[in-house]
Amino acid sequence: MTGAFSRISRLSYSAVRRGFASSSARPVVPEHNRITVGFVAKTFAVCSVTAVGISAALPDDLSLGLAPSGADAFNLIENGMHPPHLGWEHREWNKTFDHESIRRGYQVYREICAACHSMSLLSWRNLVGVSHSEDEVKAMAAEYEYQDGPNDQGEYFQRPGKLSDRLPSAYPNEEAARAANGGAYPPDLSCIVKARHGEEDYIFSLLLGYSDPPPGISLRDGLHFNRYFPGGAISMARALYDEVVDYEDGTPNNASQLAKDVTTFLSWASYPEHDDRKLTGMRAITLSVLLTVLSVWYKRFKWAPIKSRQIVFKLPKAREV
Ligand code: HEC
Repeated sequence: MTGAFSRISRLSYSAVRRGFASSSARPVVPEHNRITVGFVAKTFAVCSVTAVGISAALPDDLSLGLAPSGADAFNLIENGMHPPHLGWEHREWNKTFDHESIRRGYQVYREICAACHSMSLLSWRNLVGVSHSEDEVKAMAAEYEYQDGPNDQGEYFQRPGKLSDRLPSAYPNEEAARAANGGAYPPDLSCIVKARHGEEDYIFSLLLGYSDPPPGISLRDGLHFNRYFPGGAISMARALYDEVVDYEDGTPNNASQLAKDVTTFLSWASYPEHDDRKLTGMRAITLSVLLTVLSVWYKRFKWAPIKSRQIVFKLPKAREV
């Protein structure tokens, strides 16, 4: 088999050589085929070079992925470590948020994160029916004082919070927040899950990703090493430790449970429409499947007499002459 094969290839090789060497001999590859192959090869080469050129000229985010743009993906200092993908149950297509987890997550936010972070896009009423009952939220809001007014005398006054008030912020303005945190601004957490690459995975990993800096890296005072934070040095100290919050429902309160719950809460804050969106989507898909089936049936029903008719040409009997 091998012998036969090599003989054939040797034969055809010499034939090709002969074909090209002498102009009088008939070429093995016909002229028009060679022109086509040449044209395709040149077009491919020109397109590839153009694509690489365009890709290199585009900013990184828009790159077509053709031009090598350095090894940033593995650069801890610039991008932080990529968080592992964790199996968030609410990410599945048919699952809602775990609302008990949102409730516990609110408790973690209130008792720990709210000391520095605001959630100014959330109103108290948003929690009603999601994590707490209306009476509970009214009582929680009333614990805070809000400025209101002016009254009939034109004066501003303090009153207890209502359902329509926004969640209170820890600091009156950004400057005060920076002054209290060594110049770093604790970002508003209302949309933080949506605002960070890696979403829940990133927030969860960030909250637990603290460690000593690797040998050879020394951090400025007030900075902490966190391998998931771009740059590695974050101004926020580790906030979650085992048992820093006592859950009312008896869920174990180790640090990773606290991180999971607060991340679920922040995820709900970023995507408050999540549960309704999935339900509406399922209703829409079910309805359109039903309507499609119905319309296929209706079409067949309407067309049945037309499709099944038979058109016959009957030759009239020849008249006798
Ligand atoms: C003592 C104040 C303080 C507490 C408490 C605190 N943070 Fe922070 N947080 C900060 C500061 C300051 C920054 C800004 C860090 C920086 O830019 O270096 C920050 C940044 C963040 C970021 C943004 C990181 C990024 O990618 O930019 C997230 C998310 C975050 N905190 C979540 C939380 C959560 C959740 C809690 C509660 C479990 C919490 N923080 C508790 C001060 C705090």
